Amino acid sequence: MINIENLTKRFGERIAVAGIDMEIKSGEIFGLLGPNGAGKTTTVRILTLLSRKNSGTVKICGYDIEKDTEKIKELIGVVPQHMSLDQDLTGRENLILQARLHHLKNKAVTEQRIDEILEFVELKDRADDKSRRYSGGMKRRLMIGMALLHQPKILFLDEPTVGLDPQVRRKMWDLIRKMNEDGMTVLLTTHYIEEADQLCKRVAIMNKGRLVAIDKPEKLKEKVGRIVVEHMEADGMTNKFFDDREQAASYVTVLKTNAIVREANLEDVFIELTGRRVNDQ
Ligand SMILES: Nc1ncnc2c1ncn2[C@@H]1O[C@H](COP(=O)(O)OP(=O)(O)OP(=O)(O)O)[C@@H](O)[C@H]1O
Ligand SMILES: [Mg+2]
Repeated sequence: MINIENLTKRFGERIAVAGIDMEIKSGEIFGLLGPNGAGKTTTVRILTLLSRKNSGTVKICGYDIEKDTEKIKELIGVVPQHMSLDQDLTGRENLILQARLHHLKNKAVTEQRIDEILEFVELKDRADDKSRRYSGGMKRRLMIGMALLHQPKILFLDEPTVGLDPQVRRKMWDLIRKMNEDGMTVLLTTHYIEEADQLCKRVAIMNKGRLVAIDKPEKLKEKVGRIVVEHMEADGMTNKFFDDREQAASYVTVLKTNAIVREANLEDVFIELTGRRVNDQ
């Protein structure tokens, strides 16, 4: 559904995206994971026509990102990283404005679609309040509603749950899953490892503009080793990876320090592959 070959983007001397290859398949929830400045937003902005690449090719449903922009605009919905609401308008008014931007002309059809969207993102009760008065989670749901209005096939969500409390974050995951079950292909960026692990069928880990891994979360864990032994060494805590608990247990028996044995998570994969913690600046 999305084919990316050797994509690069520079800002002056700085290379934000340093030649990435990636394929996102129809119907998947795909996660782009990485620390601050990894190049996630830059990649999403290029895919959503908000920024121009320097080189490489990007095709969405076979359409070229530079030649077929009108077609691509119909196919994609975008929820940007930063607030894109008019906070002086109500939820419903924001949706009406969005309908105009997409040239949805039939008034009755548009009104019905807006009602459906308000229902879907659970904002019906608050539709006629100014969006300034919405909570962070409600604002994000409204932004998702705006992105869905023209019935896109692919939805891009840049950090959909940043700043949301854990409960609201889980509700957002449910909403994303629901859209996906209804047939939407979803590409999201996140630095919350758990989010990628729970939600995404496949993840790509980006670091300093490059892709360091791309696979199913389970496969990535298998690659580094399913079981981790955490223990103290002279230079601090270290993680050692094993394919199974037996191997880990026999390693622990020869250790002279206390150790924790646990299942590997995606954060371990990330540190192992990049030498950085996910939220290191
Ligand atoms: N408009 C711009 N002008 C100059 N440099 C930019 C611009 N946008 C991004 N960059 C740089 O490109 C690199 C990648 O930034 P990007 O915003 O894509 O990272 P990110 O992975 O989305 O990070 P975050 O997790 O903080 O959102 C960074 O070094 C950033 O400073
Ligand atoms: Mg970003």
